Amino acid sequence: MKKILMVCLGNICRSPLAEGILKSKVDTSKIEVSSAGTGGWHVGELPDPRSIEVAQQHGLDITNQRGKQFSTYDFEIYDHIFVMDNSNYRDVVKLATSASEKEKVQLILEETHPGKKLDVPDPYYGGDQGFENVYTMLEEACEKIAARL
Ligand code: 4NP
Repeated sequence: MKKILMVCLGNICRSPLAEGILKSKVDTSKIEVSSAGTGGWHVGELPDPRSIEVAQQHGLDITNQRGKQFSTYDFEIYDHIFVMDNSNYRDVVKLATSASEKEKVQLILEETHPGKKLDVPDPYYGGDQGFENVYTMLEEACEKIAARL
């Protein structure tokens, strides 16, 4: 079973969307997809209502998800760790204890814009349009990931 982890800061806006989108594109009996935040403020919480809404508008239900915090143990569990921005990348890689663990970590937008090191912008403090924008970016990136898995 291949295991994929999506990571952002709070695990309520971006990575829950990435988890839901990738799950909709793969055979979940063969590929496990989960998400986590580098911060622990929202552990146990539902995704942000704006993420739930934008997912719903695209036919996805992400209300089964609950916030989790990334831990070093996740390097052992997951084969690929997709981070949403450069700050997440630094925070996750800091916790890696070997080169092979570090190699599991990739900025998700490298899928669509290789070499550009682009961030999925954090929509938390913005309006609804930010969530639609994030959805579009993640949809394109997850399409590439799913095609390769
Ligand atoms: P996310 O957005 O990393 O996409 O889940 C955020 C959600 C919450 C916070 C920051 C970012 N926060 O500071 O609580």
